[in-house]
Amino acid sequence: MQDPSNGWNDRYLASEHLWIQDPDPTLVEATAKLNPATALDIGAGEGRNSIHLARNHWSVTSVDLSSVALGRLEQNAERLGLKIDTFCGSLAEFSKSAGQFDLIVIANIHPSLSERKELYALAKNLLAEGGTLFLIGHHKNSFGIAGPPDPDRLLGESEVTEAFSDMEIERLEEISDICDAAHDPAPSLVAVIKKPLS
Ligand SMILES: C[S@@+](CC[C@H](N)C(=O)[O-])C[C@H]1O[C@@H](n2cnc3c(N)ncnc32)[C@H](O)[C@@H]1O
Repeated sequence: MQDPSNGWNDRYLASEHLWIQDPDPTLVEATAKLNPATALDIGAGEGRNSIHLARNHWSVTSVDLSSVALGRLEQNAERLGLKIDTFCGSLAEFSKSAGQFDLIVIANIHPSLSERKELYALAKNLLAEGGTLFLIGHHKNSFGIAGPPDPDRLLGESEVTEAFSDMEIERLEEISDICDAAHDPAPSLVAVIKKPLS
């Protein structure tokens, strides 16, 4: 039978913590100036970013393919007395009406470019007018250093400018970032994008 987590459960089960537990510092900085409202963390993993947002008064929904990762996220949230809604499955299976979320986080998700384009389209639809989309992941320049060993799965600036050409791109740059315990900081692409009011 096909694994609905696409191999992610096995990866999580192989270690106590697959990723570092601190929230992404670039996300922390980008969200510090926003008014907390509804947030969607896509591919939330063990929940370092979801937990940070919930601690800072965001009403968070976390989506992930892995039941193991979401179980850890839920345990951590409970231990901290935080309420986070979770959905186990892909974003395509997560059905919500358009414009539900004031903040959408896509951090370190690396499917193929065609799948990323679908993900961006789904996320844009779920983002409220005036809302913010935060994207971070391994940059193409991290090939051979960190991230998936496949250039098609690494992020480049042009996919962001193309997918979000109708939105306001506040920040789009290559930075040095760390996302897992196994690697030193490596080139990441960060984007902060606003959906304009109509
Ligand atoms: C590298 S981890 C990143 C976790 C977290 N965002 C972070 O930065 O710590 C990628 C996560 O995305 C999830 N994932 C991958 N593709 C997904 C999809 N299409 N829908 C939902 N989750 C997905 C995986 O299960 C995994 O937990």
